Amino acid sequence: MRAVEMQPASGIQTPFTLAGKVALVTGAARGIGKAIAQRLAMAGASVMMNDLDADALAAAEEEIQTGRVRHMHGDLTDPAVPDFLVKAAVDQFGSIDIIVNNAGYTWDSVIQKTTDEQFQAMLDIHLVTPFRILRAASGFIREAAKRETAAGERVMRKVVNITSISGTDGNPGQAGYSSGKAGVIGLTKTLAKEWGRYNVNVNAVGFGLIETRLVQPLNGGTVNMRGRQIRLGVQQSLLDSAKSGCPLGRLGTPEDAAGAVLFFCSPLSDYVTGEVLICSGGLHF
Ligand SMILES: NC(=O)c1ccc[n+]([C@@H]2O[C@H](COP(=O)([O-])OP(=O)(O)OC[C@H]3O[C@@H](n4cnc5c(N)ncnc54)[C@H](O)[C@@H]3O)[C@@H](O)[C@H]2O)c1
Repeated sequence: MRAVEMQPASGIQTPFTLAGKVALVTGAARGIGKAIAQRLAMAGASVMMNDLDADALAAAEEEIQTGRVRHMHGDLTDPAVPDFLVKAAVDQFGSIDIIVNNAGYTWDSVIQKTTDEQFQAMLDIHLVTPFRILRAASGFIREAAKRETAAGERVMRKVVNITSISGTDGNPGQAGYSSGKAGVIGLTKTLAKEWGRYNVNVNAVGFGLIETRLVQPLNGGTVNMRGRQIRLGVQQSLLDSAKSGCPLGRLGTPEDAAGAVLFFCSPLSDYVTGEVLICSGGLHF
């Protein structure tokens, strides 16, 4: 009888390495962004992490502990910050190969109660910020790709924009958020066409309900977002119906979310571009 080869019990084997790659992850102090930064670092990448929240960001960097992680604190909706951030990644690590536009938050209300400031804030963080970061990186990416092509090399780079089933399906109370998240899909598809010639895969991952502070049950608490007290969280009834309406019967974890993003950051997706992968346990609104 032939012996059956056992798979190691310790879990996922990574069939690729990101050693030598430089990644930029926004909104990386907590939640999904932190899990993405961790996964990328574990796969061998050097990671520049950004967040608004300086203390939580420094703590997240310390937690990852690979020695190849740095952080730059800053509000990405300040028009100067995306340029500084891209420059910081290139200055620190000498390249930029993977960009994950993840930073975001919700500021919900029905349309008649939505102010101009509120609607614009959702477009600013979910659509204008990814646009500015990608524009800031375009010089480096084009020049690097031209050099590599002249040398007969094909080096793939990766952009992953984070969207939501609120953007693909719509969700009551989220006119601003869903517009920003739908808009970033347009940006993704256009850049996939503009940057294919530079060997960049540009894709989006849309989440359902992932257990982070964004989807904690509403308890009257607020977070300070750029000087504004904003109520984050969702009604318990929505969480219950999301669980029961989800084919996999549970909310996702930040690690579940990071797994889908890692696929688009890896060579496994080298021939996939302009796509939106929904990571929601099968849930749609
Ligand atoms: N959690 C979910 O169920 C869910 C579902 C769909 C999409 N998303 C998206 O996933 C992304 C991550 O969300 P999360 O659930 O991890 O939330 P989170 O609140 O746990 O983390 C988001 C991080 O982004 C940072 N951030 C927000 N505005 C910023 C700014 N102007 N500059 C720099 N950093 C900023 C926050 O400080 C925070 O640390 C967001 O884009 C969110 O819209 C989340």
